Amino acid sequence: MNRQIAGVRGVAALLPVDCAPWAAVEERLRALMEAYGFREIRLPIIERTELYARAVGEVTDIVEKEMYTFLDRNGDSLSLRPEGTAGCVRAGIEGGLFYNQTQRLWYQGAMFRHERPQKGRYRQFHQWGVEAYGMSGAAIEAELIALGARILRELGVKARLLVNSLGTPACRERYRDALVDYLKAHRDRLDEDSVRRLDRNPLRVLDSKNPAMIEILDAAPAIADHWSAESRTHFADLTAQLRTLGVAFEVAPRLVRGLDYYTHTVFEWVADETLAQATVAAGGRYDGLVTELGGAATAAVGFAIGMERLMGLVTRQPQTLGLDVYVMTPAALQGRALVLAEALRDQGVRVEVHLAAASAKSQGKRARDSGARCVVEAVDEEGVVILTAGATQGGTVSWAQAVARISEILGAKAKIDDE
Ligand code: HAM
Repeated sequence: MNRQIAGVRGVAALLPVDCAPWAAVEERLRALMEAYGFREIRLPIIERTELYARAVGEVTDIVEKEMYTFLDRNGDSLSLRPEGTAGCVRAGIEGGLFYNQTQRLWYQGAMFRHERPQKGRYRQFHQWGVEAYGMSGAAIEAELIALGARILRELGVKARLLVNSLGTPACRERYRDALVDYLKAHRDRLDEDSVRRLDRNPLRVLDSKNPAMIEILDAAPAIADHWSAESRTHFADLTAQLRTLGVAFEVAPRLVRGLDYYTHTVFEWVADETLAQATVAAGGRYDGLVTELGGAATAAVGFAIGMERLMGLVTRQPQTLGLDVYVMTPAALQGRALVLAEALRDQGVRVEVHLAAASAKSQGKRARDSGARCVVEAVDEEGVVILTAGATQGGTVSWAQAVARISEILGAKAKIDDE
């Protein structure tokens, strides 16, 4: 045998056993997107590296150390997308989506970050993102958060919602100075990572997960003390609307997020605290990004769900439609069985025919494992036996009568299942 070739570390295939629950959740998410008036946008997986440097920020972990960047054959520097927001804005500007309009968009797909793989953290992972443009008030934030809360609730995912405001860029600038002064005064107590961040992106020091840093960070200046009157009103408006909608939240004064484009509101849903990778979904407002990327000033807010993390937390799985009919057949009758299967599919019935050489016994096992609602066994040129999954016994019918009889049984079973 030839030597096997290993997959890339942190990059997993979803096997059929995983795909079924993913597909069921995705189907539910699509329905919820429609329920909130969001429309799909399909974004490229590669973009110019400069897009992420400018949007996400030069001095962020993502751009500094996590992107898959390469030169293409023209010598252009391209990167696999580490997230969806920058590409969504870029495509929206080019596609003329923003000028004097509102947009509610969603996307999903693989993202790539060269992080250290562990449970819940992968180098290829999937996001489901929603982005809303042209709405500057707190109401759209409240609605997006209500959508996120509904998704988690319906899927039985328990997570706390943390919210904070980074204020306007001017508030952030003032806060940054105050924070740097404070952290410099305590430099000897900072860990190595925080010292590095202090010099390059001081707000990120607040994000430290090191327990030894908690005391010093708890005593750090709070961004709320540097909010402008506008920022304060905006945040008060959001929290009031969340209360009216009955969405539970906690104000998290140290929540800053790891991407540079945010202004005003930021939020995260954090599941079980004992997990290192506990943030299942996150987002915020990013009003400056459209102009930063060359478009006309456009209000913007959105969030993305980490699909691997979400799937790891789902306790209430949406139902999917499985197979209706499994056809067992000896090799000599495979041709006839295929004709029957096609005729059933013409009626909208989902059918799998056993086409590998196998004993009746092993075919029977496969039929049971398939979860099909009705099992059909081809006997000879004269007739087929319908072994039903439930109590009903179909008896032997001719090939000519089979479609009608199977449809009848499936109809009767559907009625029982509904009751
Ligand atoms: P983010 O916080 O970088 O935000 O990622 C969003 C979510 O993606 C995280 O909360 C997490 O669930 C998931 N995620 C991130 N990295 C990984 C990884 N290596 N492995 C598994 N899951 C991961 C953004 O990407 C923003 N674009 C969100 C946004 C949309 N803000 C406004 N609109």
